[in-house]
Amino acid sequence: MLKRSAFLGSVLWTFLFVGPLLFTAVAAADGIDGSDTSRKTYIVHVAKSQMPAVFPHHDNWFDSSLRSVSDSAEVLYTYAAAIHGFSTRLTGSEAAALEVFPGVISVLPEQRYELHTTRTPEFLGIEDNAALLPESGSESDVIVGVLDTGVWPESRSYNDAGLGPVPAGWKGECEAGTNFTAANCNKKLIGARFFSKGYEATMGPIDESKESRSARDDDGHGTHTSSTAAGSEVEGANLFGYALGNARGMARKARVSVYKVCWLGGCLSSDILAAIDRAILDGVNILSLSLGGGSSDFYRDSVAIGTFAATEKGILISCSAGNAGPGSSTLSNVAPWITTVGAGTIDRDFPAYVSLGNGKKYSGVSLYNGTSLPRTLLPFVYAGNASNNTNGNLCFTGTLDPEKVAGKIVLCDRGVTARVLKGQVVKLAGGAGMVLANTAASGEELVADAHLLPATSVGEKTGIEIKKYLLSDPNPTVTILFEGTKVGIQPAPVVSAFSSRGPSTVAPSILKPDIIAPGVNILAGWTGAAGPTGLSTDSRRVDFNIISGTSMSCPHVSGLAAFVKARHSNWSPAAIRSALMTTAYDKGKDGKPLIDVATGKNATPFDFGAGHVDPKAALDPGLVYDLNADDYLNFLCALNYTPMQINLVARRNATCDAGKTYSVTDLNYPSFAAVFDTTQVAGGSSVVKFTRTLTSVSGAGTYKVFISTDSKEVKVSVDPGVLSFGAANEKKSYTVTVIASSGLPGTNSFGRIVWSDGIHTVGSPMAFTWN
Ligand SMILES: *[C@@H]1O[C@H](CO)[C@@H](O)[C@H](O)[C@H]1NC(C)=O
Ligand SMILES: *[C@@H]1O[C@H](CO)[C@@H](O)[C@H](O)[C@H]1NC(C)=O
Ligand SMILES: *[C@@H]1O[C@H](CO)[C@@H](O)[C@H](O)[C@H]1NC(C)=O
Ligand SMILES: *[C@@H]1O[C@H](CO)[C@@H](O)[C@H](O)[C@H]1NC(C)=O
Ligand SMILES: *[C@@H]1O[C@H](CO)[C@@H](O)[C@H](O)[C@H]1NC(C)=O
Repeated sequence: MLKRSAFLGSVLWTFLFVGPLLFTAVAAADGIDGSDTSRKTYIVHVAKSQMPAVFPHHDNWFDSSLRSVSDSAEVLYTYAAAIHGFSTRLTGSEAAALEVFPGVISVLPEQRYELHTTRTPEFLGIEDNAALLPESGSESDVIVGVLDTGVWPESRSYNDAGLGPVPAGWKGECEAGTNFTAANCNKKLIGARFFSKGYEATMGPIDESKESRSARDDDGHGTHTSSTAAGSEVEGANLFGYALGNARGMARKARVSVYKVCWLGGCLSSDILAAIDRAILDGVNILSLSLGGGSSDFYRDSVAIGTFAATEKGILISCSAGNAGPGSSTLSNVAPWITTVGAGTIDRDFPAYVSLGNGKKYSGVSLYNGTSLPRTLLPFVYAGNASNNTNGNLCFTGTLDPEKVAGKIVLCDRGVTARVLKGQVVKLAGGAGMVLANTAASGEELVADAHLLPATSVGEKTGIEIKKYLLSDPNPTVTILFEGTKVGIQPAPVVSAFSSRGPSTVAPSILKPDIIAPGVNILAGWTGAAGPTGLSTDSRRVDFNIISGTSMSCPHVSGLAAFVKARHSNWSPAAIRSALMTTAYDKGKDGKPLIDVATGKNATPFDFGAGHVDPKAALDPGLVYDLNADDYLNFLCALNYTPMQINLVARRNATCDAGKTYSVTDLNYPSFAAVFDTTQVAGGSSVVKFTRTLTSVSGAGTYKVFISTDSKEVKVSVDPGVLSFGAANEKKSYTVTVIASSGLPGTNSFGRIVWSDGIHTVGSPMAFTWN
């Protein structure tokens, strides 16, 4: 089950390093196999209310239950906040025996998850301007917890100059371990813990020659994400001179607490749950998770389960949507209490032109910094013509014929293996450089890499043009011209091709992703233990690195949630998310819809959710859609969850009222998804009704509704069409009726509902799907 690709090693996790093909979802393990005699990790959920009184503490009860099925199994973790229960190693028959034990709700096999800036503050319009952006509370009171690969504490992004004492009531710790002591924390990095018991139980002891048994980040990913969310300002940050400027997190005064849960072989759910458990007890305000594991029902998904408890405690959860785009229904982390973040581009680029022997010039991107190519043109060869391998065009390790590539620039096709690894393959075969051509999977999306040889990435169409010349000219020649950093690129943002897309398969009635944020070519802090490509052969060391993925967009939203919370300390997680979503933009400054770079066509809410985050607007949304734990419980009832399934998610006996009608469309979510059954629609028309309640957060005001849709198949009406609020905190409800007359199975259309008082624009996307 826990296969690890030998050639990828630690670099498996971010989009920087691998093509989308490797991001196949890690399917949830099936139920218990009673005949399985090998030991596996199981997470045991218990009903706290059923603990017999004889046990002084739940640990004694857990031990006693466990002893009754196994003499030797040890408790890995006990959980107190995220779930009630513990994790342990059991055979299939032991697990089956434990599952029917009194008080045990369920015994679930462990799942595996994988890890899915200077320019962005300016791009987002939040360069420091204290007068413009006053704080009501204090940003330095907000704590962002990051579950990832740990932290490189020496990074200047964790400089604590100017920060006051650690917020009162903070219970986190700086745990000592390999190359990590309590002295590595400070007033910026206020907590650092690591969770390896589940990982080591399955994978064997951590090889300390390869990674630190501590919160130290030997990979870079965790340092990048946590410094993006809440890193301190660093002047003159850059990667080899690229993207030179001031780097800072989105909430640059917020505190950071890191929870290392991802190791060389992945991230295991028993560790993730333990980290969420700890983060809740420590007292974080925001949880940022740039990792995912496909999509399973909420009651089987440890991230969904653990974060339900967190959201109940007032913690906002921001997760990456995944890098499995541009195909539809490729999302992870879709629970309605999670803010699901997709990725877009920013207006910065790193141009590196392909100049051909026929005089034509094509644009590409690169972060190469080393010896330049000679000014003269070099011989050019297609990898597919320089290999005996049928997949030679993909430049897999050992497939290029050195005789055919020596001294030449090689054109490789993108896909399957890491982009930077292809460059290394060309280099090892004696090639002088590489042109990396996108295929249909990534379209015109340009992701820049710090290649180990002179190389540039070009879009699919450009690649086709270049190949025409390359395959027709008897003596093709080429060179690559590197031009540094360029800003002001338009259009920006565009939705990136890799960003995972809706609709959600787990709960199609919740429109996901929620929002997009910058996730392409993002500069942030890096580890001192690995080079910018993450390849073991890359001996370069950098303070900052430029990488891409929804792993990068998620911490932007985590940090921006902290930014909003600092100014509205009494808002709930749902209110903060609502503010971020209803003020997001789905059109560029030119008034044109955001583009999907995968197709070159207009993007839809299944690509960007409510749109692109606009932090300044989010500070003053006018109205919010609020939600609490009871609302989520009603939603689980509407999904027809059994009492056991609800207990798994919500840790309580919540009974759905048999006399009450629960509707998935009544969850007070800031977006709308209507799903129609084509067979019903065919017989006439089909109606979906939504109820929503808006809360004023800006005092009295009268809001009018504006409805727009591109759909010929639906009629949307809103009642009432005007909402008048007399004072702040006043609530007003309305209903949306969608009547669908026709529609082909498998098609979608979209719309938008906007409430406006002339000052505030409270926008919600609508998606209509015919099954
Ligand atoms: C610990 O840190 C030192 C210096 O930073 C480094 O040389 C060494 O390799 C590190 N050890 C491990 C296990 O990471
Ligand atoms: C590459 O590195 C050199 C120093 O070796 C530096 O002067 C130059 O500006 C860098 N190039 C780019 C494009 O940033
Ligand atoms: C080079 O590869 C192309 C595309 O695979 C193929 O059409 C062509 O015949 C090859 N040329 C040679 C000389 O092998
Ligand atoms: C590729 O095939 C040719 C002809 O069959 C052979 O001469 C050559 O050695 C092979 N090259 C590699 C790298 O296997
Ligand atoms: C929860 O439900 C179980 C069985 O369904 C019952 O035995 C138990 O008493 C209930 N606990 C509470 C606190 O209602």
